[in-house]
Amino acid sequence: MSVEVGFTRVDAQPDAASMVASMEATARWPAVRQLRRWERERLALRPGDRLLDVGCGIGDVALSLAADVTPGGEVVAIDASEVMLDTARQRAAQAGGPAVRFRTGDAHHHDEPDGSFAGVRCERVLQWLPDPAAAIAEMVRVLSPRGRLSLIDTDWRTFAVDVPATAEAAAVTAAMLRMRGDGALAGGRLLNLCRDAGLVELDCTGAVHIWTEWDPDRAPGPAGLFPLRETLAQLAALGLLDAEVTDRFVDTMVEAGRAGRFCATLSLVAVSGRKP
Ligand SMILES: C[S@@+](CC[C@H](N)C(=O)[O-])C[C@H]1O[C@@H](n2cnc3c(N)ncnc32)[C@H](O)[C@@H]1O
Repeated sequence: MSVEVGFTRVDAQPDAASMVASMEATARWPAVRQLRRWERERLALRPGDRLLDVGCGIGDVALSLAADVTPGGEVVAIDASEVMLDTARQRAAQAGGPAVRFRTGDAHHHDEPDGSFAGVRCERVLQWLPDPAAAIAEMVRVLSPRGRLSLIDTDWRTFAVDVPATAEAAAVTAAMLRMRGDGALAGGRLLNLCRDAGLVELDCTGAVHIWTEWDPDRAPGPAGLFPLRETLAQLAALGLLDAEVTDRFVDTMVEAGRAGRFCATLSLVAVSGRKP
């Protein structure tokens, strides 16, 4: 995985299939499942409603929410990546349930009329966009009056690992944040972005994902996380990290994993609001 490209252009990644696998892994995180359940209650979709899923990835949420708008409703799910959309369509064919219209699209410009959706959701996408506020404004545009917007995102400032090499761990987190820029802060910014967008009846919650294990001999990174050694080596090559610090950090992570003492945490935030 190219650390500079990340999820901004999945199709340009040399190993796009691993990005799909990472979405499958994160969908199993208890924190993600918890926030999706919370979101479903807030969206409170009804048969006949239309829902837009922005940056739908592998389409798992779009497919499960389609049941809530059936009969008579519709879920439109857009993504910038054909690899993600192909996976989503395959899952839809296997599920054989209510139809979702998966199509190529850009989070900044929806090819949809004003006020045409009862609900819009966007999960872990804003962190990859150059202008999250513009993307939210576009989501609000297509929401009907009193329609619900739901946003879920990660705050990478909260990424923490419990290893003896605390100085190295801090240097790695700082380098990741420099690399990712403002996008890494998306989770913690969601509430104020929604306030700025003029949404009302705002509600928010959070959840922490805890990795309790990693077998470095079977997987290049903890489930759903980037391949550790490869990604951090790229940060070092970009001059954002000292190569020796990188090696020491990854070695302590590997050691913790092999000793059955792996522990890392990351916070996610969900915000729901209504268009006035
Ligand atoms: C981390 S994944 C999250 C996928 C899904 N929402 C989920 O939570 O499982 C980010 C997704 O955003 C998509 N994406 C990135 N930039 C985009 C853009 N400008 N417009 C639409 N989708 C975009 C990527 O292709 C990828 O599928």
